[in-house]
Amino acid sequence: MQDKRLMERIETGIPGYDELLGGGFFKGSVNVVIGGTGTGKTVFGGEFIYNGVKAGRKGMIVLTSEEAEYIKREWYTSFGWDFWELEEEGKVVFVDIADPSLRLQKTVEIAPDELIKSFKKLLESKIKSVNPDLIFIDSLEALFLAIESKYKLKSLVDDIFDVLREAPATCMVAAGVIYGVDEIIAYSADSITNVGMVRVGNNLQRSVHVAKHRGSVIVNQVRVLQLSDDGIAVLSQSPYLEF
Ligand SMILES: Nc1ncnc2c1ncn2[C@@H]1O[C@H](COP(=O)(O)OP(=O)(O)OP(=O)(O)O)[C@@H](O)[C@H]1O
Ligand SMILES: [Mg+2]
Repeated sequence: MQDKRLMERIETGIPGYDELLGGGFFKGSVNVVIGGTGTGKTVFGGEFIYNGVKAGRKGMIVLTSEEAEYIKREWYTSFGWDFWELEEEGKVVFVDIADPSLRLQKTVEIAPDELIKSFKKLLESKIKSVNPDLIFIDSLEALFLAIESKYKLKSLVDDIFDVLREAPATCMVAAGVIYGVDEIIAYSADSITNVGMVRVGNNLQRSVHVAKHRGSVIVNQVRVLQLSDDGIAVLSQSPYLEF
């Protein structure tokens, strides 16, 4: 049976980004943002959840590498986003896998595939209890670094994505560029957005492009990704056309 959910769009509200995607994400899809360290992946996800919550949706943020309190502080000082308040109001739920009560800490003693299986179970139960409209996972590559077989890696990523696709929520997943793990994560995604740093003269500029979006006509251009006190924005002009 056709899943009609996938025909409905959810606007991200990130200025300029919905245009690049050809009109926002499809409802219920899994969308990956890939980039090296410091390129803006975490801010991207924060803006996606923040805008969605302001538009009346419920958000869930799953953290695998940074503590929730640290991220909330960072977003407050950088952009004035008050996630403590949104959490108190029940509009956002943080799931921090380093939280001892979840017993899911990454340690070298736990076999990597056991950790991923526990993560999958945690995701399933949190999706059920929180019932979010939007999910941001930051980030996925760290959990998969220790999986040596590419085949196993792909099937474990697919398992996690299946859980996300079965949920009614629309998902954004951050993935760092490391040892090809990001490429395998990208394969299974409904959309891929690449963020990076480009040298223009003596300046470094953040760049963004959408590399795929299943079922959608995308803008095939590299654009400037701007970070400012207002958060993240994709500028409408591409400065790279002349090169
Ligand atoms: N108000 C602001 N204006 C401009 N830039 C900002 C502002 N606040 C934060 N930044 C920049 O945003 C960047 C943070 O990017 P972010 O944490 O999203 O990157 P990331 O890709 O998630 O990196 P990591 O691999 O470390 O997780 C920092 O380099 C910081 O300098
Ligand atoms: Mg980050």
